[in-house]
Amino acid sequence: MNDDKIIQMDMGTRTGRGDASARPTVCLGIESSCDETSAAIVDSNRNIRAHIIYSQIPEHQRFGGVVPELAARAHILAIDEVIRLTLERAGMTMADVDVIAATAGPGLIGGVLVGWMAATGMAQSTGKPLVAVNHLEGHALVPRLAAAAANDGDAPAVEFPYLLMLASGGHCQILLVRGVGQYELIGQTLDDSAGEAFDKVAKMLGLGYPGGPIVDTRAKCGNMYAFKFPRPLCDKPGCDFSFSGIKTAARTFLDHTPGPHDDKFIDDFCASFQASVVDCITNRLTHALDDARVRVARPRTLVVAGGVAKNSAIRSALEQMAAAHDMTFAAPPMNLCTDNGAMIAWAGLENYAAGRVVTTPVAPRPRWPLTEL
Ligand code: KG4
Ligand code: ZN
Repeated sequence: MNDDKIIQMDMGTRTGRGDASARPTVCLGIESSCDETSAAIVDSNRNIRAHIIYSQIPEHQRFGGVVPELAARAHILAIDEVIRLTLERAGMTMADVDVIAATAGPGLIGGVLVGWMAATGMAQSTGKPLVAVNHLEGHALVPRLAAAAANDGDAPAVEFPYLLMLASGGHCQILLVRGVGQYELIGQTLDDSAGEAFDKVAKMLGLGYPGGPIVDTRAKCGNMYAFKFPRPLCDKPGCDFSFSGIKTAARTFLDHTPGPHDDKFIDDFCASFQASVVDCITNRLTHALDDARVRVARPRTLVVAGGVAKNSAIRSALEQMAAAHDMTFAAPPMNLCTDNGAMIAWAGLENYAAGRVVTTPVAPRPRWPLTEL
């Protein structure tokens, strides 16, 4: 793997201040559950000392989505170099690392195995403690490492408990986050995830992969009232989602208006589709705030995380919603929304501090709900 294949890289981002006198705990985190091979060195003072994200997107683009076998092979080819470069950029060796953390699931099992075995091998050869990180917990906790809208210096960016909208390519859940390892599921999708809906609609329009960022950009120039997309379940009580009806509506619209479609059509289509997703998310979150468990816990912060948290319309709708409910809004900075090693390193540090380290062999899991932690 060449340096020029790394399409995103952050070094030495200082996100927190911490106690300068105490030596912080240093964690090497590894992520490989989908189409990013990533590693980061993060310390317990919330400093990202080095962060390498090697994205495989160009390798999967011509197939219109992630091909698991190609992803696993690409992880094998990249993992050693990504870890080596991360240590080099941090100016560290393994001797400077206190704890190793890697994604142990959920995700594409071939990729998860690659990162997990690399971490296990390093932990065994160095005798360092190892943390098996749930990928979803990485997304769920990363706003505590860095949050774009709620970071005020020394205070932890986001305090427990918080209400979390977790929206990624594989998951769409509303969770009450009570603490590390303590997740209460308030609602979830009954079919597709929000990210999947974005990706599938983009594919129908021939816009490329991944679709979310492209739809987001196109929607900015479009008229969100041009097409009437459904808002599934929004007239029903509860906090569950359904996105398959929105996807079917998109297919039906397109079948009735065969292409070629001009830019205005595509922009309007994206804006209208995105508006329906935003409405579904705000509707379900409003119900979640009324849920008895949430009312009793009284979370002060509304958090959005996962790849879909990059979406500008979703971010601003949730920011407004938080303000209307007298809550603080928090979202990770853009580069920590999609899959990355820093979120795994941070979840590793939080679990390590809570004493949750591997003591017996762990088998990576393709499925691993947060509620089973
Ligand atoms: O969290 P993530 O990197 O991977 C999973 O764990 O699944 O999320 C990837 C998803 C993709 O579906 C992608 O289209 C979506 O996040 N995404 C977006 C945006 N940026 C990425 N969706 C909507 N708007 C965006 N700006
Ligand atoms: Zn993810």
